[in-house]
Amino acid sequence: METQRKRVLSGIQPSGNLTLGNYIGALRQWVAEQAVYQCYFCVVDLHAITVPQDPAELRQKTREVAALYLAAGIDPERSTIFIQSHVSAHAELGWMLTCLAPLGWLYRMTQFKDKSAKQQQESVGAGLLNYPTLMAADILLYQAHAVPVGDDQRQHLEFTRDLAQRFNHHYGETFVIPEVMIPKAGARIMGLDNPNAKMSKSEASEYHAIYLTETPEQSKKKLMRAVTDSFAEIRFSDEPERAGVNNLLTIYEALSGQTHDAIEAQFVGKGYGDLKKAVAEVVNETLNPMRSHYQKLTQDAGYLDGILASGAERARERAEQTLDLVRERMGFTIPKR
Ligand code: TYM
Repeated sequence: METQRKRVLSGIQPSGNLTLGNYIGALRQWVAEQAVYQCYFCVVDLHAITVPQDPAELRQKTREVAALYLAAGIDPERSTIFIQSHVSAHAELGWMLTCLAPLGWLYRMTQFKDKSAKQQQESVGAGLLNYPTLMAADILLYQAHAVPVGDDQRQHLEFTRDLAQRFNHHYGETFVIPEVMIPKAGARIMGLDNPNAKMSKSEASEYHAIYLTETPEQSKKKLMRAVTDSFAEIRFSDEPERAGVNNLLTIYEALSGQTHDAIEAQFVGKGYGDLKKAVAEVVNETLNPMRSHYQKLTQDAGYLDGILASGAERARERAEQTLDLVRERMGFTIPKR
């Protein structure tokens, strides 16, 4: 029964082109979890505006990300796909939680420290600081038991759990405390041009990331140019000087499903060029079906609109139930319906 299945919620910001990191860290896990959980997957456009966005581009990217959810294998019959701003309960609960969140907790978030360091102190938006309370609202509105994300979201999940516990303590048992779900292989895919920095969709340099919607030739070209080292040895390692080769091996591991030992044995006596070719092959084999599905989806805007409309309706229903409970617990009057 739907109501007895445990729930999952996750989301991606439409703040750039989705990368292989988003696929391995998030999307791929989501597809598998549909078999077990009742899933909610949103495109978090309200989070994207915590840094400046071009309006036309934001609108286009939001639809693009939603189409990629479908192309990756999220089944709209089984899972709810929606856009965060279509369900106003997210902003509402986000505000209520902001009022409960200690500033000290928010200032400690590494994402806030990193992103605000890139801007003039005076012009750092308040949304960047409050980002984690909106993320907590996304998760808690659906009473999600589990949240599948890459390693970089671990701290935000801790924050969500702490805030939910704080709420439950102040107002009585209200929220399910969600568990973080991090993939075993590929929880942190690194940049191809700089293997000591996370692969990111908002990094502009040409050889940094593999994009889900680029051509197989582009992916191959980037992988063949990936930064390696001069050790000429193909093995997994956590030494910073070997981060490039380790990253290539990690991508290979995540997509081929083989063990470390089997992979290292396969590359004994081979060179970095062979490794790069093998990685390009497995990357393109994985992404190509999604790319062609995505192309088909871009030709039928009406289909995507329909999925997003019914997704928002289902999400709203669930979110409003939780919001009513929160209103009651916090002492708001409940509007007559
Ligand atoms: P975002 O949009 O930065 O990334 C989306 C998902 O992709 C994962 N990811 C990676 N995994 C492995 N290697 C990488 N290089 C890599 N880059 C990104 C992220 O961990 C994430 O799972 N705050 C979130 C969005 C969000 C959210 C939520 C997530 C808003 N509300 C509620 C879960 C639940 C973010 O910025 O993800």
